[in-house]
Amino acid sequence: MVDVILGLQWGDEGKGKIVDFFAPRYDVVARFQGGPNAGHTLYVDSKKVVLHQIPSGIFHDEAINLIGNGVVLDPVTFKRECASVASFGVDYKKNLFISQRAHLIVPTHRALDKASEISKGNEKIGSTLKGIGPAYMDKTGRNGLRVGDLLDKNFTTEYIKLRLKHQRLLDGMNFQEDISAWEEEFFEAIDFIRQFKIVNGEYFINDKIQQGKKVLAEGAQGSMLDVDFGTFPFVTSSNTISAGVCTGLGIAPQKIKDVIGVSKAYCTRVGSGPFPTELNDETGEELRKIGSEFGATTGRPRRCGWIDLVALKFACMINGVTKIVMTKADVLDAFDKLQVCTAYNINGKESAEIPFQMNKLEMKPVLKSFAGWNTDITAIKKSNDIPLAMKEYISFINQFLGVSIQYISNGPGRDQLIENLG
Ligand code: GDP
Ligand code: IMO
Ligand code: MG
Repeated sequence: MVDVILGLQWGDEGKGKIVDFFAPRYDVVARFQGGPNAGHTLYVDSKKVVLHQIPSGIFHDEAINLIGNGVVLDPVTFKRECASVASFGVDYKKNLFISQRAHLIVPTHRALDKASEISKGNEKIGSTLKGIGPAYMDKTGRNGLRVGDLLDKNFTTEYIKLRLKHQRLLDGMNFQEDISAWEEEFFEAIDFIRQFKIVNGEYFINDKIQQGKKVLAEGAQGSMLDVDFGTFPFVTSSNTISAGVCTGLGIAPQKIKDVIGVSKAYCTRVGSGPFPTELNDETGEELRKIGSEFGATTGRPRRCGWIDLVALKFACMINGVTKIVMTKADVLDAFDKLQVCTAYNINGKESAEIPFQMNKLEMKPVLKSFAGWNTDITAIKKSNDIPLAMKEYISFINQFLGVSIQYISNGPGRDQLIENLG
């Protein structure tokens, strides 16, 4: 049996905290896509830690953690992350497994990412510049190197061939960068990875399922950044949605039970691209300040706005969401008035659908107002104690989406999660 936790917005919904919370109920936690563009924040012993590629189940002694074939792995960042996890006393080598089919991010992928963004000028995607796009291009273009290749004696020769290919592309783009320091670190990190349990991930995970073990698939980014269904071209390069679990781990669709979608009580986006409910005013500034909305990977300020129910309903449809976790509800504590987007006004016409290319349209959100709750909710433990105004806000969202919010996160801490009993 496999459950999935994934983001329903533009990433940074608080997936890391939620996976960490639910991990004790599972035997295996597996990442199925993305790479070091992700930044998943958790609090362990009240200390903050940000994970990029290691699954967020790593702090639970009993959980097996798998980096699936759908992930693009940057050895350098991975080595650093392992050191950070070890500083919490975690013996990461015991429970961390890597699929041999996961593709590698090489130093020239990062250079290509930079070159591509520069060449786009004002139309740049706002990539995290971690080499994600170029690494996935090499996967679909059938050029990339995979983790399993590290064990081959010809690895260095294959690496040099790939680097030469990249060098020609970089020359064509008139982009020069000295990658020798990265390369040195890369080869050190490659040696480090060779000591890990590199497995045939699809057999590994299906064997666990066969044995009756419970698997939790952890998504990165969010549904609106999905390469097929997000706000293309302002998206990431992988399938962030529940379908990505099948291809990113080698799991059949009928093995998936719950799809747990994580959404903030409002909305954020980092990087460029359409964001219909964005607030370029004092309210947006307040949301950023109170919500500490700065990127966990790049430190960039996140764009903030009201919750977008059109986009959320779309994400529920595409993913088959069975339960919703609403995070950062406490950030709205101090607002007198809240708004939710129920439709888009496109060229004077109302629509409740995600259009083909949002970035080419004049769009305005149709907003419905709600009274704020003006109460500090951070210490609430039971849904009975939720303020009435908040109950009304949640009940409207539940009805609109046709999927219910079953958990409400009221702070970044591990124990700040309220089960919503209705
Ligand atoms: P992820 O990428 O989806 O894992 O999310 P990030 O870690 O990038 O961003 C979420 C941020 O919100 C982190 O700083 C979390 O510590 C924080 N956070 C998560 N849940 C809550 C919550 O309910 N309330 C508040 N105030 N912060 C939260
Ligand atoms: P987590 O897992 C928020 C955004 C980037 C950029 C676009 C493409 O922490 O939610 P890429 O580096 O993939 O080429 O960037 O996607 N992006 C994220 N935004 N959270 C993330 O991950 C993101 N990963 C990528 O800002 O707009
Ligand atoms: Mg994040």
